[in-house]
Amino acid sequence: MKHTTKFSNQFVIFIFLILTYSCADDSVISLTQIHEGNFISALPIPSTINPQNLTLEAKPSPWKFLQDLTTKNSLLYNSTLPVIKINSGDLFNVNFKNELNNSSNIHWHGVLTPAKMDGHPKDLVAPGSNMNYAFKIKQRAATLWFHPHPHMETAEQAYMGLAGMFIVNDDEEKSLQLPSGEFEIPLVFSDKKFNEDGTLRYALGSIDKHYGYLGDKMLVNYTESPYLNVKTKFYRFRMLNGSNARIFDIALSNGASYYVIGNDGGLLEKPVMLTHALLSPGERLDVLIDFSRLNVGDTIYLQNNSNTIEGYGEQSYKILRFIVTEKENEVFSIPGSLSSITNLNPANAARTRIFRLPAPHSGHSGMHMDGSHTINGLSYDISRIDESVKAGDIEIWEFDNSMGMDPHPMHIHGVQFQIIDKMNGNLEEYEKGWKDTVLLKKGEKVRVIMQFPNEKGIFLVHCHNLEHEDDGMMLNFQIQ
Ligand code: C2O
Ligand code: CU
Ligand code: CU
Repeated sequence: MKHTTKFSNQFVIFIFLILTYSCADDSVISLTQIHEGNFISALPIPSTINPQNLTLEAKPSPWKFLQDLTTKNSLLYNSTLPVIKINSGDLFNVNFKNELNNSSNIHWHGVLTPAKMDGHPKDLVAPGSNMNYAFKIKQRAATLWFHPHPHMETAEQAYMGLAGMFIVNDDEEKSLQLPSGEFEIPLVFSDKKFNEDGTLRYALGSIDKHYGYLGDKMLVNYTESPYLNVKTKFYRFRMLNGSNARIFDIALSNGASYYVIGNDGGLLEKPVMLTHALLSPGERLDVLIDFSRLNVGDTIYLQNNSNTIEGYGEQSYKILRFIVTEKENEVFSIPGSLSSITNLNPANAARTRIFRLPAPHSGHSGMHMDGSHTINGLSYDISRIDESVKAGDIEIWEFDNSMGMDPHPMHIHGVQFQIIDKMNGNLEEYEKGWKDTVLLKKGEKVRVIMQFPNEKGIFLVHCHNLEHEDDGMMLNFQIQ
């Protein structure tokens, strides 16, 4: 009797191992993992740049990404990670100087600009040349950003450091009296790889071309595994996923809740209390964290939770260490409502367009990978107009990843949209409101609705996994 039991147990384990092994062999591929640093470098707080008489110079500049090595081959705007702050209604005017060895330009991600100012890949600035970007800020307060957009070189230029935050403020947001000054901190997340000598390594193997380039060091504001001293107060963190491909599930190491008050296009209607939220490349989260109940000497971490995004998310790792160093009385309390958002009505849509994301090709490789990076089977052609929409029209765009095996953060230029629904997925509270980038997990179908502005010209829709984008997962659409 005893013998039989033992035998059947072993048999079950044997079958289990066979199943596990064959599944793993079939679909799970382990991508580059993060090696946490030691959290002894202070988090640099990017200094705010005054938008008056602004020059942005893209040039090779050294940067201390790592604790004891200075990176010599990084490319930066004004030798830093700039944060531009501007008021809604103001005129933005910047002289962009390209001091790189390659052509480049600046795309203002999430900013509603005229087509000519959007940094389309056809509008490049040659090495040694200048371009003036000028436009009026015609949108509400939001955490936006900027980066280069030259076709097939966006990924490498952004990876080497060319990016910045673009913060729009307005009266509505001001009236909420959210934490500001030392209590309002931009956090740019990115992962990178380095050579022994501290130089940045960007070399795409076939796995990287497929999944996007993942680093093994986790940086915040371009500093490896940093710490931040905090007081026992509420802090406002404007978070940007500035990595090429890595997807984060942002959480606190003590499991505490935090509040999402805004996302890509600005404030939500009301704060969303949660314990973790996804942040895919290009997306932003405006977050309040309450340190008021902690004690001086306490340490907690901002971390990535392991999550269900296959290949990108199995690992949990710490990102940023908070050390409570000072007790200060807190009087701030979370506002019950933040903003009002008018939902666009699907019944008013002039039409629905479908954008099919890549599906696996039944190839000879054992791995389940999607085929080439296309949208509707098309690979990007800079001179082809793929869709034409009418200025002022409301449209529904459906991104269809139902056949796909990989996640894709889809981004539309020139508009902010609202997510109507998701098939095979959940529309989270923190994804409501105005967005410009939406993550499609494998198997999902997402419908978004937007009203096109009167900015006639050519804009882009693309995957913000930058290696996917460079590989052709991008289309032109024309507003006419
Ligand atoms: Cu941030 Cu077209 O991209
Ligand atoms: Cu964009
Ligand atoms: Cu993609």
